[in-house]
Amino acid sequence: MKEIVPAPPPIVRNDYESIRDLFAKNVVPSYGRFDLALSHGAGSYVFDVAGKRYLDLGSGIAVCCLGHAHPAITEALVEQSKKLIHVSNLYFTEPQGRLAAEIVKRIGAGKVYFANSGAEANEGLYKLARKFGHDEGRFEILTATNSFHGRTLAGIAATGQDKVKKGFEPATPGFRHIPFNDLQAARNAISPATVAILIEGVQGEGGVTPATPEYLLGLRKLCDEKKLLLLMDGVQCGHYRTGKFQSFQRILENSEFRIPNSEFLPDGLSMAKSLGGGFPIGAFWVRAPFADLLGPGTHATTFGGTPLACAVALKIFEVIQIERLDENARKLGEWLKNELERLAKNYPGVIKNARGLGFMLGLELVEKEKIPAFASSDKSAAIQMTNRLQHAGVLVIPAGTQVIRLLPSLNLKPQEAGEGIAKIEEVVKSLA
Ligand SMILES: Cc1ncc(COP(=O)(O)O)c(C=O)c1O
Repeated sequence: MKEIVPAPPPIVRNDYESIRDLFAKNVVPSYGRFDLALSHGAGSYVFDVAGKRYLDLGSGIAVCCLGHAHPAITEALVEQSKKLIHVSNLYFTEPQGRLAAEIVKRIGAGKVYFANSGAEANEGLYKLARKFGHDEGRFEILTATNSFHGRTLAGIAATGQDKVKKGFEPATPGFRHIPFNDLQAARNAISPATVAILIEGVQGEGGVTPATPEYLLGLRKLCDEKKLLLLMDGVQCGHYRTGKFQSFQRILENSEFRIPNSEFLPDGLSMAKSLGGGFPIGAFWVRAPFADLLGPGTHATTFGGTPLACAVALKIFEVIQIERLDENARKLGEWLKNELERLAKNYPGVIKNARGLGFMLGLELVEKEKIPAFASSDKSAAIQMTNRLQHAGVLVIPAGTQVIRLLPSLNLKPQEAGEGIAKIEEVVKSLA
């Protein structure tokens, strides 16, 4: 008898057009997506549904720190899911306690609260600050222009970029912005209601701008003097991306920036992204004197610090340590930066400058009107460059209208870095 095989449903056909159609009909269109449907990955490569291979120098916006489909992450997920995935925070579990200890060990004396995302980790810091200043009527948090702190209502109020706020007014009260890397402006902005200052060690979405050592040390002094909490957002620049666990440790590593008889520490620090290598988890660390401010009943989330998420994060710490991926981010990052600087020097008609630390690198493009191939499009220079690089088989991340970011996985290999630079040069050369 002749067998009749039914046509597969669109989801099984797995082609770009049908996936895009599913999104058009069913997914809220809040993201500007590229014309790319990805199917699977291995290490620093991902493949689209048509089988084309891309070198992923964005790693899911600084998330997939061990690359794609890393066997250690798969193993941690499988092993822990056979024991316990979730129990709620009504109970103690070993992975959460151990992960908190690993984070404390890497930053300094304090405690950790677990959440699920970067925005939520920052929300915890806002609540910490409000609790700290509550009895004195202080509640205002100063954040930097061009910062990015997430897309919740408080997150967009904290973020120093108008484009994320537009259409969602009135803004959540209690946030004001100050120019980044300007200590005097911070001092001038403090009001009787101010309770904290929050900055990124390296601004990411704002275009890859590191804080200067003088700014960090100056803010620490200012916060001590004015009884403010110094809060840092390490969501994107943390987790060894700069070559040290947290960006402030890298920025202040030279002895000339050591504080005599003490050590620079912020009072609170948020993390997410690479902490789970692609499995959602966020957290904030709070310095010892303030570690018990949020007592029982003051803050909570159902999924924060599940045994599954914590087991994955613990495994990632182990792999980074054993394979010395911090050193890789520092050394290969240095090589990449030198190469990007070479491109900036050789193609000044396309690239303005290269900047960043470790594996958090930015390439600032010249205004699109000055690049003939870009001038007539209504898309920004950063988007058009990202599109061209995708066509050449490389994924990068735009930041604003002028900057493309390289945020590769921490285990990027030298030959992959070489391949990335060769392809970027090819594209830049074609535009020069
Ligand atoms: C510095 C920084 N903070 C917070 C966030 C928000 O994190 P999430 O998207 O996980 O909420 C991001 C995301 O890009 C970020 O870069």
